[in-house]
Amino acid sequence: MVTKLLNPGPVSLTQRVRGALSLEDVCHREVEFRELVGRVRERLSGVYSERGFTPVLLGGSGTAAVEAMLSLVGKDESSLVVANGVYGERIQAMLAAQGKPHEVIASPWTSGIDLDAAENALGTGAFKRVITVHHETTTGRLNDVAALGAIAEKHGVPMLLDAVSSFAGEELKLAEWNIEALAGTANKCVHGAPGVSFVLASDAALKRPSGATSVYLDLSRHANDQAKGSTPFTLPTHVTRAFDEALAELDDEGGWRPRHAAYGMRSARVRSVCRELGASLLLDSEDAYGATLTSFRLPSGSTYAALHAALKHNGFVIYAGQGKFDGAIFRIAVMGDLGSLDLDRLAASLRGALGALA
Ligand SMILES: Cc1ncc(COP(=O)(O)O)c(C=O)c1O
Repeated sequence: MVTKLLNPGPVSLTQRVRGALSLEDVCHREVEFRELVGRVRERLSGVYSERGFTPVLLGGSGTAAVEAMLSLVGKDESSLVVANGVYGERIQAMLAAQGKPHEVIASPWTSGIDLDAAENALGTGAFKRVITVHHETTTGRLNDVAALGAIAEKHGVPMLLDAVSSFAGEELKLAEWNIEALAGTANKCVHGAPGVSFVLASDAALKRPSGATSVYLDLSRHANDQAKGSTPFTLPTHVTRAFDEALAELDDEGGWRPRHAAYGMRSARVRSVCRELGASLLLDSEDAYGATLTSFRLPSGSTYAALHAALKHNGFVIYAGQGKFDGAIFRIAVMGDLGSLDLDRLAASLRGALGALA
C-alpha cells in the first residue's frame, strides 16, 4: 500500500515527477543545468502569464523564499503585516530578525484579515509595503488579497505576498492586486519535491538596491546571477529537475485552473464525509476556504492522535493543528497525486475511525 500525503506539502508525487528525481547527475555549473534553470524560470512565468515579473529560484523551503522576498524591503523602510495565522506571524518574526521596522494587524486565527484596520494604518502614510499571506494554511482560509491590494493601491503601497500554499492552486492576479512580489514553493500546488522555492518579483523591485540582511537570502544576488545564466550557490540539482517536470505536467494538464477545479472537487468530497461524521468546519463557512485544505474540529470523544494513527494505518497522513489549535482540530489537504479511488479509500477510513462516534 502506497501512503498518500494529505498534509499541506510535501505532496505525494506522480510517477512522472518521481522519475525525474533519479535521472543522471548534473553539475550545477554545466550548460545542461543552466538550460534547466532557464526552462524552470520560463515555466514559472507561464503559470499566471503576467508581464513584468521575474522568477528567481532559490535552494530551500517555502520559508526561504518568503525570507528572501523580504530582502526587497529597504533596511529603514516600514512594513505593515496583515496576519491571521502562523504564517503571517512568521513574517513578523522575519522582519524582526532582519531588524526592519514594522507593525502588525493581527486578527484571530479563525477570522479574515482586518481590512478596515489595514485601511486606517495605510492611510497614515507610514508604510512602504503591506505584507500578507494568500492561503493561510493554519486554517485553510483564502484571504481577500484582491481587497487588500485595492486598499494598498489607493495609498500607493505595494504588496508582498506569501503564496507558498496557493501558487498554481488558486487564482492570482499580480498586477491587478498590486503585488510587487510573491513567494512560492515547488512542493505544494505545483507538485514538485521539497528543496526549491522561488520568488516572482516585479522587474522594478529587482532594480532597487537590495535590503538584504543575509548573504544567502539576498534576492537580488540570486536574480542578478540567474539573469546571467548562473546561480550564486548550489541549487538542489535533482529537485530542480523534478520541479521542471512538475511544471511541465501542470502545463500538460491545462494549468492552474483545472488543478484548482480538481482540488475543489476533492475538498468537497472530504467535507461532505467529515460533516456526515460530526467533524464540523473550523471556519464559519465553506466559502472562507480555499480549494486545497480544510480544517475540521475534532468530534467529541475523538483525539487527533487516535485519528491520525487510524488513518495512517490505512495509508493516509493527515495534519494536526498548529499552536493554539494543537489537539483541537485536524486538517486534510488534497494536493498531489490523489485519484478518486484514493478518495473512496479515504472516505472508508474516515468512517472506520469516526463512524462509531457519529
Ligand atoms: C502559507 C505558507 N507559508 C509558508 C510556509 C512555509 O513553507 P516551508 O515549510 O516549505 O518552509 C508554509 C508551509 O506550509 C505555508 O503554508
